[in-house]
Amino acid sequence: MLHRVIIEPFKIKSVEPIYMSTDEERSRFLRESHYNPFLLRSEQVAIDLLTDSGTSAMSTRQWGAMMQGDEAYAGAASWERLERAVQDLTGFPHILPTHQGRAAERILYGVLGGKGKVFFSNTHFDTTRANIEFSGAEAVDCPIEEAHHPSFLHPFKGNLDVGRLDRLIRERKPDSVGAVILTVTNNTGGGQPVSMENARAVSVLCREHGVPFILDACRIAENAFFIHLREPGYEHVSYRDIAKEMLALADGCIMSAKKDGLVNMGGFLALRDQSLAEACTNLLIITEGFTTYGGLAGRDMEAIAVGLEEVFAPDYLRYRIRSIEYLGENIQKFGVPIMLPVGGHAVYVDAHALYAHIPVDQYPGQSLVCELYLKGGIRCVEVGSVMFGKYDSGGKLVPAPMELVRLAVPRRVYTQSHIDYVVEVFREIERTKDGVHGMRITKEPKFLRHFTAHFEPVRAA
Ligand code: F0G
Repeated sequence: MLHRVIIEPFKIKSVEPIYMSTDEERSRFLRESHYNPFLLRSEQVAIDLLTDSGTSAMSTRQWGAMMQGDEAYAGAASWERLERAVQDLTGFPHILPTHQGRAAERILYGVLGGKGKVFFSNTHFDTTRANIEFSGAEAVDCPIEEAHHPSFLHPFKGNLDVGRLDRLIRERKPDSVGAVILTVTNNTGGGQPVSMENARAVSVLCREHGVPFILDACRIAENAFFIHLREPGYEHVSYRDIAKEMLALADGCIMSAKKDGLVNMGGFLALRDQSLAEACTNLLIITEGFTTYGGLAGRDMEAIAVGLEEVFAPDYLRYRIRSIEYLGENIQKFGVPIMLPVGGHAVYVDAHALYAHIPVDQYPGQSLVCELYLKGGIRCVEVGSVMFGKYDSGGKLVPAPMELVRLAVPRRVYTQSHIDYVVEVFREIERTKDGVHGMRITKEPKFLRHFTAHFEPVRAA
């Protein structure tokens, strides 16, 4: 079996047509959406790699479980099933259901955050950072040095720089630290895994200083796959047991079930400490819903409970990680620079290296995002200075450390021929790269500007 192609370990029972647009149509659609693919209609997109979040195809077992959704306001059987599933996986006693990950973030970081507080993370995801900053606190990224170099190989490039974390906690004083957040895999840092050794070191340090250690566990099954594959001592430990071992190191976790929960909507917050859980529960009831449903329907909770089991299936994880690696390997073959090694849920293209002629303040990543749509109807997102850039007091752009474009692959949705098509489009992108223009922002909101900003191409004068 060893040398055979790793096939999709599922059959397709229900299909959704893809509209095949023309070049002219796409050019118009992109103009009408102000060169921001977030503003495109999904029907205008052929291959949607905007996100792996909430875009999974559900299994027959999940759909079957949904029919058993108990929609009672309080004490629903579906809640009991979800609560048990989450307690069993995470080991935490207090489970708060939320409609998605960021709702859990708003609640937890609203309680732990506030003015004068600081949070440290391997890299804060955009909604994590936004929720922390919105509370008045500060979010400081603390990845290992290797994470800053897209082509540098490291088996656990998602790791947090523990030495620096120790210095920072001492400098800022433990009392002012809201929490240390380890995001597994590290989405913003390239979908890179975090090793158990690193999680353990972070846990020990947090305990020493008495600061809370929170796992952002939304891709913890994918992270477990990498630990099993690359970290000595874990080759015989099951993916699920690896995840459990990591969760046991933390004081709580946040999970957007829209990723490794294999569902279209849902999330939760799981905590060890009762008084923290009580403070969070107050906010939950005010903003999400009663404690036994959060923002979720009973049927959603059923689907999550099943998804959390299915995601650890070895055949699924092997196919999942291999399909992303396959995309990365193949676009790299004709010289497209990507973040290495390939991460768990996405391939990150180094747009700064690809379009060396486009200055950073003309957002080379946004140019690539637009080109992929124009040439192939492929939708993806910039993870660079559009997403993370700031302005200094003089209004000049303070760029992000890297200009990446993320091709996030939905779970169980696309087949190998879809991915082969994406590879073909990249061949053309590489061939035509010299004629591509930069972009300028014409309109932007204050927070999370990448979602709604408007752009236009910068044409030579
Ligand atoms: N944490 C991480 C690491 C995430 O990747 C996300 C979402 C969230 C928290 C928030 O969860 O969307 O359920 O509210 N990431 C999506 C993405 C949006 O495209 O990477 P949410």
